[in-house]
Amino acid sequence: MIATAFFVSVSLLLGAAGAISKHPLVLLVAIDGFGFDYLDRGLTPVIQRLKENGSSARYMYNAFPTVTAPNFFTISTGLHPEVHGVIGNRAFNENHVCLWQNEDMDQLFHYDDRVIPLWTLNELSGEDRYSATLGWPSSEYDYRNHPIAHNDLNRIENSSEKIDQTIRWFLDDDKPTNLAFLYFGQLDAMGHKYGPNSAEVNSTLQEVDVTINYLLTELVKYNLRDKMNIIILSDHGMLEVPKENLIDFRDWLKNDSYKACGESPYWQIKIEPGHEQEVYNKLKDEANKLGTFAVYRKEEIPERWHVKHTKRQADLLLVAKPNYGFYDAVQFEGDHGYDPDADIRVRPLFIASGPAFKEKCVIEPFNNLDIFPLVSKMLHLKEPLIKPNGTITFIKDILKNP
Ligand SMILES: *[C@@H]1O[C@H](CO)[C@@H](O)[C@H](O)[C@H]1NC(C)=O
Ligand SMILES: *[C@@H]1O[C@H](CO)[C@@H](O)[C@H](O)[C@H]1NC(C)=O
Ligand SMILES: *[C@@H]1O[C@H](CO)[C@@H](O)[C@H](O)[C@H]1NC(C)=O
Ligand SMILES: *[C@@H]1O[C@H](CO)[C@@H](O)[C@H](O)[C@H]1NC(C)=O
Ligand SMILES: *[C@@H]1O[C@H](CO)[C@@H](O)[C@H](O)[C@H]1NC(C)=O
Repeated sequence: MIATAFFVSVSLLLGAAGAISKHPLVLLVAIDGFGFDYLDRGLTPVIQRLKENGSSARYMYNAFPTVTAPNFFTISTGLHPEVHGVIGNRAFNENHVCLWQNEDMDQLFHYDDRVIPLWTLNELSGEDRYSATLGWPSSEYDYRNHPIAHNDLNRIENSSEKIDQTIRWFLDDDKPTNLAFLYFGQLDAMGHKYGPNSAEVNSTLQEVDVTINYLLTELVKYNLRDKMNIIILSDHGMLEVPKENLIDFRDWLKNDSYKACGESPYWQIKIEPGHEQEVYNKLKDEANKLGTFAVYRKEEIPERWHVKHTKRQADLLLVAKPNYGFYDAVQFEGDHGYDPDADIRVRPLFIASGPAFKEKCVIEPFNNLDIFPLVSKMLHLKEPLIKPNGTITFIKDILKNP
């Protein structure tokens, strides 16, 4: 009894430091829709200070399409979309069923059972490694039938409660987390609804900064700041899409001649047998006439996008030019998903701060594929079943001990 009481009071004094993992601590913080150029607005001083004082790149190169699910899955698996199979937020499966409703999301993320995200690989690497995820897209599902220690299936919405929960999981007596994934979606929602140059995006940027400040303050309070390796990143930026820039391909095609799956600004088209020439020619004519979108036959899709060598890619792919969109963007003022090389504003931010990272270090932009080998190295994780497409070569320069 006395021993227990003594232990409890000591660990309270130390901010429960006795409970933390023996492994390095890594926290990935995703801010959906945070284009790297948002930092220039001067509305996020806390994030700016973290960037100047820690390690950063001006931006990361992201995956095509520059949308949420393909990019977060690329970050967490280190694989190109054509390898992990998530070639869109919505995509056909190999039987041309469009996977997009909530009940299909599990299928979307399980194209190849050998693909393992970092949170699962961390736990499969054993020795009391425990993962936590709070709202990261694709983290609600088990991989290789392995449920991770801490998963926010209640979907906490409130930002400070998300942070409180994350910290509790790092300090969990039973299964102290060594790797956590925290996600904030509000900035993306505001960017779509009001456009990237709106007052609403500005005020949400300020809220995001307050949230990051709260995170840092709480880490200090629990004696975790000096131990925590924080990576702040995003999936993509945001461009304006004026209503007059919307393209409605449904007007040009007979509705029984094709099936479509996608969302502005990328759509897959599966052509029904017998309509091959008619559908392709019509779309190609309109693309040539308007010049606002491109049509690719599957074999013509640029290799550098890494979405063509998969059974999930359909006959045709339509991709709008920056600032244009397809009919479903009618509800939006802002959008993303474009060719990552067509407009620099779709690129995401990357900032790292903590004991493993160099201070005041700026490296050249790198692929978001490289986060996987970085975290694997920091935590000494096992080799995944599929060799990652990312590399440690460039990103390792942010490590104090590469
Ligand atoms: C910068 O980083 C160092 C080392 O992590 C830390 O001691 C210092 O307090 C930081 N400064 C600011 C202004 O955040
Ligand atoms: C979030 O939770 C905190 C603490 O429970 C509370 O003070 C705050 O008002 C909440 N914020 C919102 C927007 O509900
Ligand atoms: C958003 O913030 C930037 C930078 O402070 C400012 O130049 C711009 O006018 C703001 N936009 C709106 C719509 O308030
Ligand atoms: C296809 O078009 C025909 C004729 O305009 C219409 O009657 C039918 O409801 C449409 N079918 C679908 C699935 O939209
Ligand atoms: C990506 O990784 C997969 C699996 O190792 C491999 O088959 C493929 O060739 C790689 N792609 C590139 C472009 O390196």
